[in-house]
Amino acid sequence: MKSLHSVYWSCKTVLAFVSFLTKIDADISVKLKIDGKSEINRLNADFVGVTLDTSLLSHHWGKLDVRSKAVQTLAKGLAPCFVRVGGTGSDFLIFKNGKSISSSSRTANDTLGYGKDLSKGIDYINHLTNFTMTGEFFDSLYSFVQSVGWNMTFDLNVLLRERESWDPENAIQLMKYIAKKNYRISGWELGNEPDAFYHILGYRIKASQLADDYKRLYQILHDTFPQFNNNLILGPSVTKLCKEKPIDYFTQFLKSGGGKIVTAATFHHYYISAKSATEKMFLDPKVLDSLIKEVQSALTITRKWAPDTRVWLGETSSASGGGAKGLSDTYIAGFMWLDKLGVAAKYGVDVVLRQSFYSGHYSLLDHNDCSPNPDYWLTLLYKNLVGRTVLNVTSSDASRHLRVYAHCTNIKRTQYKPGSVTIYLMNLHKKETVKVEILNFLSENVDFYLLQPVPSTNVKSKYISLNGKTLSLQNNELPPLLPRKQQGEIILPSLTYGFIVIPNANAAVCY
Ligand SMILES: *[C@@H]1O[C@H](CO)[C@@H](O)[C@H](O)[C@H]1NC(C)=O
Ligand SMILES: *[C@@H]1O[C@H](CO)[C@@H](O)[C@H](O)[C@H]1NC(C)=O
Ligand SMILES: *[C@@H]1O[C@H](CO)[C@@H](O)[C@H](O)[C@H]1NC(C)=O
Ligand SMILES: *[C@@H]1O[C@H](CO)[C@@H](O)[C@H](O)[C@H]1NC(C)=O
Repeated sequence: MKSLHSVYWSCKTVLAFVSFLTKIDADISVKLKIDGKSEINRLNADFVGVTLDTSLLSHHWGKLDVRSKAVQTLAKGLAPCFVRVGGTGSDFLIFKNGKSISSSSRTANDTLGYGKDLSKGIDYINHLTNFTMTGEFFDSLYSFVQSVGWNMTFDLNVLLRERESWDPENAIQLMKYIAKKNYRISGWELGNEPDAFYHILGYRIKASQLADDYKRLYQILHDTFPQFNNNLILGPSVTKLCKEKPIDYFTQFLKSGGGKIVTAATFHHYYISAKSATEKMFLDPKVLDSLIKEVQSALTITRKWAPDTRVWLGETSSASGGGAKGLSDTYIAGFMWLDKLGVAAKYGVDVVLRQSFYSGHYSLLDHNDCSPNPDYWLTLLYKNLVGRTVLNVTSSDASRHLRVYAHCTNIKRTQYKPGSVTIYLMNLHKKETVKVEILNFLSENVDFYLLQPVPSTNVKSKYISLNGKTLSLQNNELPPLLPRKQQGEIILPSLTYGFIVIPNANAAVCY
């Protein structure tokens, strides 16, 4: 008994000492100033969307049960939004009107792929063999997308070629099928990451040739299919805009006529590669800041060669190659995701498509049981709270460890009134708590949405809480996402992120 007692007391002393230490660490005061009088950008009404990688089609949904109530609820929660159906596999997809599944070069198991572990996502397709998408499978794809209220863009196979040019024959068959069924498509894309073809295939399609192929696509959509006349055309989906060759490809494509065809110039972005991903990288301001240059590069080139064209992040996530297990699918991924949305909005990207809704470790749903990963909840809150108008916010913290963005509140998806402002922020300090003061709204009541891992010390947790309540579906329905009402100073613990809504901000530009 006695020894237990002393253990108890020594623990208490240690705890008291630890909390004393954390108190010393606890104080970084940050002052924010928001300019509510002018907007710095206005985003697409459906700024955040998702992707379904084509490899998922070749595996017939893998373990994603599109008919389950839970999956439907989770997908509907994000609607309306764009869903890009595309990826490396799209350049190996052959459409066949009919039911039977056949494949020239895959084993029966590969083609059917039911219950396959799609954890590696895109890597699967690296056999680089053609596969068939039947009309029947397209029906199931369309029916899912339609039933959850998403808008589909479809990536066509650009590697079907006749001499130098794209051979549109198979695409026309698919379009005829879609037209006959009266399906509504939002947009089209031709090929995936064509700047990397040499790397994966050993030959190139020149950027100017791709621009010609896009002209052909435009003509077909316009001349043959009146119902597709107003569809979006997206491209050229290059990747690694930090490097000279992709920058050159992107420029040449827009310059040689592609810029007149595409309604949005697209590029892809991953901060890091799954193979070499570490926990540290997910929390490193320098890694997060690396996106800024790529966004600026895409915008500068597009403004120069295609001034009327918007820029989309057409496929993007934390780590390429399927995402990093234990990182891309846990709380810590939220730092990259939330900062990416902030940077994209601040610098003027019109739409961001998250790779992926399902499949890979970077997916919004767990690739085994389809339960929502922390980033699903983060995306849902973002869609609910963050509006189209981006505001200028300045922070007294110059270290880049407190990252903060501000928009008008999304009054369409919430009860907030016009004039409200939403701030989203993350604290990358390892130990220090940040006290946030919003200078121009010091005495206002605010709604605080603090997201923390569960347990709160484990940034690599699969579970996330909102104001202390672990988020999960409740009887296959979304739970209420309730704020904590408070006044004055806001405390953001170390290694957490969240949203603040100022309902009475009366920001002039938010009316
Ligand atoms: C298909 O998978 C089963 C079970 O994994 C295996 O026994 C069978 O040999 C495979 N068939 C082919 C054609 O690869
Ligand atoms: C896919 O099919 C097309 C058309 O038949 C062919 O040109 C191409 O070489 C095939 N690709 C592979 C990787 O088999
Ligand atoms: C998205 O779908 C809705 C109908 O659900 C439609 O009204 C809207 O025009 C579509 N947007 C685009 C860009 O296709
Ligand atoms: C935001 O405000 C700061 C400080 O007032 C100013 O220096 C900066 O130019 C503004 N940025 C934009 C995009 O308006």
